[in-house]
Amino acid sequence: MNIIYTDNNATTKVADEVLEEMLPYFGELYGNPSSMHTFGDKVGKKLKQARQRVADFINADPDEIIFTSCGTESDNAAIFSAINAYPEKKHIITSNVEHPAINNLYKHLEKTQGYAVTYVPVDKKGRLNLALLYSSMSDNTAIASFMWANNETGVLFPIADIAKKAREKGILFHTDAVQAAGKLPIDVKANGVDMLSLSGHKIHAPKGIGVLYVKKGFKFSSFLIGGHQEKGRRGGTENTASIIGLGKACELAQKNLPVMNTRVRELRDYLQNQLLEKIPSCSVNGDLEQRLPNTVSIGFDAVEGESILLMLDREGICASSGSACTSGSLDPSHVLMAMEVPFKSAHGSIRFSLSHYNTKDEMDRIITALVPVIQKLRDMSPFWKDGRVV
Ligand SMILES: Cc1ncc(COP(=O)(O)O)c(C=O)c1O
Repeated sequence: MNIIYTDNNATTKVADEVLEEMLPYFGELYGNPSSMHTFGDKVGKKLKQARQRVADFINADPDEIIFTSCGTESDNAAIFSAINAYPEKKHIITSNVEHPAINNLYKHLEKTQGYAVTYVPVDKKGRLNLALLYSSMSDNTAIASFMWANNETGVLFPIADIAKKAREKGILFHTDAVQAAGKLPIDVKANGVDMLSLSGHKIHAPKGIGVLYVKKGFKFSSFLIGGHQEKGRRGGTENTASIIGLGKACELAQKNLPVMNTRVRELRDYLQNQLLEKIPSCSVNGDLEQRLPNTVSIGFDAVEGESILLMLDREGICASSGSACTSGSLDPSHVLMAMEVPFKSAHGSIRFSLSHYNTKDEMDRIITALVPVIQKLRDMSPFWKDGRVV
C-alpha cells in the first residue's frame, strides 16, 4: 500500500538531495573538521559552507549560528543562557500553548529555581492576548519567549511586534521557529529577535540536528561545556554529516517557499474545505488567516481522535492528533484546551500537516477515506444520535 504522509509537523522525509550531500561524510570523508591535516580540513570547509547556508536562510551572520542536537536543545540552551545572563531577574514570559521543549522547562524552573512565569493566554482562535503580554513585561523579566508558529494548529504569533516591545523594555526575546521554518520566510534581522531555534527534521534534514541563532553581542553561556567547537559555545565534535545535510535542506527550503505558499496552501485549503463540506459537525481549530500554509487541525464532534487515526492508518494515511510528543496520551491537547475548544471536538481533533511532496490525488484519497470513517465511528458513539451531537 502507498503511504500518504500528512504528518510533516511531526517530522519530514529527508530530501533525496540532502541525503546525497550527506553520504560521503558517513563514508570516505570522515575527518574531524577541527584537525590540522588537509583530510580533516576538507570536512571543515564543507561545514563552513553549511553554516553559511543556514545563516543565509534566516538572514543571520555565520558566527551567529550554533549547531545543536535538536530543537529541544536549542530552546533549552536559549532559556538557560538568558537566565544565566540576568541572574537577578526572576520572571519569564511565554504563552500557554508552547511546545513541551519550552513549557516543561519553565515548569521545572518554577519548581526548582523559584522563577515566576507568566503564561499569556490565547483566545478561541489561538491568538495571543497582546495587552496582557505587554503589561506583564517588567524590569524583573529575564526573557520573553514565544513560538513563531504553533505545531498543532499552525497559528502564527506576531513575532516582530512582540520582539519590538521586548526590545523597548530591554528584555531578551527568543522565538521557537521550529515549525515556521521552511513554511514562511524567516528573517532574524527584520523581526528583531535575539535568539531563535530551528530543528533539522522538520525541514527535510535528518533527526538529531538543530540550530540556535544567537544575535551578536549577547553574552551566551555554553549549554554543553567542553571543547572549543562552535566557538566554545557548544562542546562536542560536530555532527558533520547532519550539519551538511541541514545546510542543503535550508537551501532547498528557501527555494521551496513559493511552492509552500501556493501549491501546498491550495492542497491544504482543498482538503479542509472538502472535509467541512462533506462531514457535518466539524470545525477548524485556530485562526484561518494567521496560520501556516501547510497545517489544518479539524475537530470532529462526538468521535475519538485516536480511533480516527487508527482507521486512517489502516488506509495507509499518516496524520496526528495533538503533537507527536503528546499523542499516546489520552488527555486532550493542552493547546486545544487553552483555546477552550469544547471537549467534544477537542477529543476528536486531527491534524493534517502537508509538504511539497503531497499531491491532489492524495488529498482526494484522504477525503474518500475519512467520510465513511467518521460516519462509522459516529454510528457507534454514545454522543451521536439522529445525525447530531447529544
Ligand atoms: C514548536 C516545536 N518546538 C520544538 C520542537 C522540538 O524539536 P525537536 O524534536 O527537534 O527536539 C518541536 C517538535 O515537534 C516543535 O514542534
